[in-house]
Amino acid sequence: MTTAPAERKSTNSWWQSPYDRWLVAQDVPVFTGYYVEDLRTIELGWWDLRGCPGAVLNLVGHQGVTEAHVLQIPPGETIPPFRMAAEEIVYVVEGQGIATIWAEGHPQINFEWQKRSLFRIPSNYYYQLSNARGDQPALTLHVSYLPLAMSIQPREEFFFNNGFVDPTELYGSEGNPFSAEAYAVRETVDRGGVKHETHQWHANFFPDLNVWDKLRAYGGRNRRAFGAGITFPNSAIRTGMMVLPPQRYRAAHRHGPGVTIVGVSPGSGFAVMYPEGGEKIVCPWTDASVFVPPNNWFHQHLNPGGTQNRQLRVFPPKALMGYDGGLNKEVPFIEEDPWVREQFEAALAENGLPSLMPSGLFEDPDYIWDDPEMDDKD
Ligand SMILES: [Fe+2]
Repeated sequence: MTTAPAERKSTNSWWQSPYDRWLVAQDVPVFTGYYVEDLRTIELGWWDLRGCPGAVLNLVGHQGVTEAHVLQIPPGETIPPFRMAAEEIVYVVEGQGIATIWAEGHPQINFEWQKRSLFRIPSNYYYQLSNARGDQPALTLHVSYLPLAMSIQPREEFFFNNGFVDPTELYGSEGNPFSAEAYAVRETVDRGGVKHETHQWHANFFPDLNVWDKLRAYGGRNRRAFGAGITFPNSAIRTGMMVLPPQRYRAAHRHGPGVTIVGVSPGSGFAVMYPEGGEKIVCPWTDASVFVPPNNWFHQHLNPGGTQNRQLRVFPPKALMGYDGGLNKEVPFIEEDPWVREQFEAALAENGLPSLMPSGLFEDPDYIWDDPEMDDKD
């Protein structure tokens, strides 16, 4: 047996994933903490691959499953065409503009986007983003399963120079899939033993996540909120929107890694997350905040503001959520560290608002939270 020289190349490395190696080579700012308070104020740097300023979020909770990055489209400019053999979900953080999407050899499809639009770029479709305004940059957030995909196919060329494309995704018989017309499918879903009805909205383009009003209440006694299911019809990426009513919060729960949670409405609040028995991390929460709970860390969302709070969630593949792992998934309010409620009430006091959390939740294990504000909104 001989020892190979250090410069000998290998696609395999015990300590660094293919995505990690690819990311180091990108030479673009990378954020690696637990959360980003406001995407609109982070430092961006020129990203050769995309031909525009950008930054990558490789947060602790992404854990080699999902990735997120932001791109800045300068005023009045169009960034170069790009394609990747992994689909992307794009959320518009700021600005308005036009997307042009096409499969090689097929007609271009154009649609207009604005602040709070959400759309999907299918795998290996070319796309170009143009800023329609001459007076301010546009900012887009992109989320994909690239780290997970690279873990089983480590060659960069596969993702960034791959001719395979499925034209039926956008050129099928159902017309322009980026029209603003979504359709709702009513489904009954079992969430941890609690059955509830949901509306799953099907489309490739959602013009504004903040005006959506067809919301279904879900969750049990401790984790009630409103949900709006988002289904991109041909996508492997699971998404959803959670809406938290004012002056209330959800009990802590935990699951697998890689859930990228994005603030999509004005307002303020905070999230708390912690490993079992460990130190609590408080993540400030506002419009354009992002946080990603690490694998099996408890986390909870608190809304001490006077208006509802909307959050977009981009989930990892179902198998990684750990729904069936048998772990304690939720901390009932009655078992909660009183520190959490104290922080919530202190934040409410700063806003001059009363708590709408019934005290019985914290005293009686059989308490029924009967709150008309938490019923379905159709
Ligand atoms: Fe969660």
